[in-house]
Amino acid sequence: MPDRTLVLQAPLTLRSLPGGLGAEVLGRAVADVDESSFPALYDAFLVHQLLLFRDQVLPPAAQVAFARRFGEVQVHVMDQYHASEYPELYTLSNLDAAGNPTGKHPDRGTLVWHTDGSWRRATGQATMLYAERLPSSGGGTQWADMYAAYEALDPAERARLEGMRAVHNLNFSRNRRHGEEPMTEAQRAAVPPVDHPIVRMHPETGRKCIFLGDHAESVVGMDYAEGRAFIDALNERIVALARVYTHRWRPGDFMVWDNRCLLHRAESYDTAREPRVIRRCTIIGEVPA
Ligand SMILES: [Fe+2]
Repeated sequence: MPDRTLVLQAPLTLRSLPGGLGAEVLGRAVADVDESSFPALYDAFLVHQLLLFRDQVLPPAAQVAFARRFGEVQVHVMDQYHASEYPELYTLSNLDAAGNPTGKHPDRGTLVWHTDGSWRRATGQATMLYAERLPSSGGGTQWADMYAAYEALDPAERARLEGMRAVHNLNFSRNRRHGEEPMTEAQRAAVPPVDHPIVRMHPETGRKCIFLGDHAESVVGMDYAEGRAFIDALNERIVALARVYTHRWRPGDFMVWDNRCLLHRAESYDTAREPRVIRRCTIIGEVPA
């Protein structure tokens, strides 16, 4: 029988990211994570909400394999982004086939605070990004802590929000940000609007948080225009109340975060002159409750 000490993993070494939201995992190769080392990482993911791994060599197959440890990997309805061979990977790139910057942002919707897959009944659990090529300036990513936003609200407002539901609609958010590139009829039919509670209980930590962002279009039972104004104002406030972490990417950075309790957005960059190629996977989570 093999000596069990040979298969024990070194304890996970974590370092808080500046500002206290998220942690860097030190000395771990994402491509080497296996069945025995995954549970500690997953616990760290639940506690810290956002994990950074630096200097990773992560081929597409290894990224998909790591993603599958979290759950079912989403195949995005906007199929123009699929990386060849791996429909689970969504490539955000501003380069043309010859490798030159096109001047077009690959997904302007990502520039606005949102949570991935909130337009589905079962919303996004984790998203993971791997940085291949980066601009010399700009193009960072920010995350905002929605536990902190909830906890910063006064009890009367929390109680009011707990009874409310918002309708999330990809066709709405997509058209608002990409009016010139509408979804096809088949894509729209695949993702009809869904409603979710504005305050959700995280299914694994049991903590409450605000669940809103840019895919939220209207409020159930509220006049449409009033709901629009309500959502815009609340989206602004929850980010102002939250702890925010801003990441300056380096090539080989890998980040994984919990969409159930974070909003995120990308920062702009010079899409006409600078390259930015990021590989993304999103895991399908639960129906919010
Ligand atoms: Fe996103």
